[in-house]
Amino acid sequence: MLKNMKRWQNVNALYQIYPRSFYDASGDGIGDLNGITTKLKYLKGAVGSLGVDAIWISPFYTSPMVDFGYDIANYCDVDPLFGTLNDFRNLLSQAHHYDIKVMVDFVPNHTSDQHEWFIDSKSSKNSSKRDYYVWQDAKSDGSAPNNWLSTFGGSAWQWHEDTQQYYLHSFLKEQPDLNWDNPDVRAAMADVLRFWLDIGVDGFRVDVARYISKDTQYRDESINVTYGKSSATEDPYQSLVHNRSQYGPRLFDFLNELTQVVDKYDDRIMIFEDYPVENLSIAEQYRAFYDVHPGVGMPFNFQGMYCQWDANAFGSFIDSFQDILHVDERPLYCFGNHDQPRIASRFGSEQARLLALLQLTLPGLPVIYNGEELGMENADIAPNEMQDPAGNYTPGIGMGRDPQRTPLQWSAEQYAGFSQAKPWLPVGEHYTTLNVKNETSDNDSFLTLYRALLALRRNDITLRDGDFQLTSQNPSQVLTYRRQSSEGGYIVALNFSSEVKKVDIGSPGEVVMSTHPAFTPDFSEAQLVLKPYEGVLVRVNR
Ligand code: BGC
Repeated sequence: MLKNMKRWQNVNALYQIYPRSFYDASGDGIGDLNGITTKLKYLKGAVGSLGVDAIWISPFYTSPMVDFGYDIANYCDVDPLFGTLNDFRNLLSQAHHYDIKVMVDFVPNHTSDQHEWFIDSKSSKNSSKRDYYVWQDAKSDGSAPNNWLSTFGGSAWQWHEDTQQYYLHSFLKEQPDLNWDNPDVRAAMADVLRFWLDIGVDGFRVDVARYISKDTQYRDESINVTYGKSSATEDPYQSLVHNRSQYGPRLFDFLNELTQVVDKYDDRIMIFEDYPVENLSIAEQYRAFYDVHPGVGMPFNFQGMYCQWDANAFGSFIDSFQDILHVDERPLYCFGNHDQPRIASRFGSEQARLLALLQLTLPGLPVIYNGEELGMENADIAPNEMQDPAGNYTPGIGMGRDPQRTPLQWSAEQYAGFSQAKPWLPVGEHYTTLNVKNETSDNDSFLTLYRALLALRRNDITLRDGDFQLTSQNPSQVLTYRRQSSEGGYIVALNFSSEVKKVDIGSPGEVVMSTHPAFTPDFSEAQLVLKPYEGVLVRVNR
């Protein structure tokens, strides 16, 4: 049971906004900060709102947009595409008016090559900012200092002719890595946090947290011996085990320096982005991130993004994750984001509804990526419309992230009501049905399901913070668990199969929700009949 949870105690759910694609108020085909402000009531504070009370906004800072804002040229200003700093202040005060917390993205590993620090750094080996970045000499044969790879393809080292050294870029060559071993860099990045904290933001999402500490001797990474065995289209980045280019010896000290800054401010938090990796157990990996600074720093849980469609697989990852959490810690289950295919496209629509019930009946702070609440699907992007560097640099292996970044679907009007102008990415194929307007008045829609679950969760201590326990003796492909607090109990039963399943839940109770539209609960003497892919929430008395 959760006790003494101080920060973000009353936050029910966190909603990720990808600002380019949320709502375009300026009419240029690209979403912006005023667009978010205009639509705050969709999130909270009005009849029919979704019912989330915290947002995380992906980067909106000054940027050449080579990686759509994850290449930052000025950490302390807003890119004109998205508006101005005053627009952000206005968004923040409006959000706070509705009691919505605002989390911003913090990208510590790299800047844009247009950042003034990098421009200075590359100007000369004697620049006062030279050591802000990672510069190394070539090997005697002129090749790169080691075998490290860029996540987006090719070597992680870029030769710089003028100063005759290589610089490191774990992502695009336009995103040079900062040198976190340099205390001046750490001090400058702490100042960035203070800048936004003083303006009033409620937290930070820390981009690619594990990359900021590296092997200080820049040794080669090991070869991944399993690479290429499972599929011909594996990402070449996985041909190495990344035991040197990330997760270095000072990672958790560096992260702690950041959380110490956040800790000085009331009720602010920091969430670390970290994907599961093969060379660490989930327990080791996630515990370390929780231990950085209990109560202030915490990691997303991304295991649900990679889980195969299997009741046991979902049950066991959740169960083992719950086991590693200490009393006051909240899990942050996250099933989708701007880097992952849409849930409905990964598994199917009915399955996505089932996962909504799962996610919103688990303990902790669920994180919802914009559009998942509408059941949005991956859009087909023609080759000449592709924007994402990850797709363009490593073509043909499905790395492009455009399909899950298309405009939020507000209505059946032109451009899905997102903009007056042609949007930067095409709108999804099903926008005439899967949109906010349509789904608001449809009792059987995704949006209605999300709203109902979020409303229930908001006022229910058992669902938010109660104990979690898997229950056993189920038919195959049925997952059941119990949520319990001193206030009451629930059983959640999820049918992952395409067949009807009968489940004996062992207690009499009342079905309060089903993922199947217009459900007629078939439930007597503690036996539940679940339709294919149906999930139900049952309130039980004991
Ligand atoms: C972000 C990506 C980005 C990368 C580099 C991530 O994990 O979510 O969208 O491309 O970091 O900053």
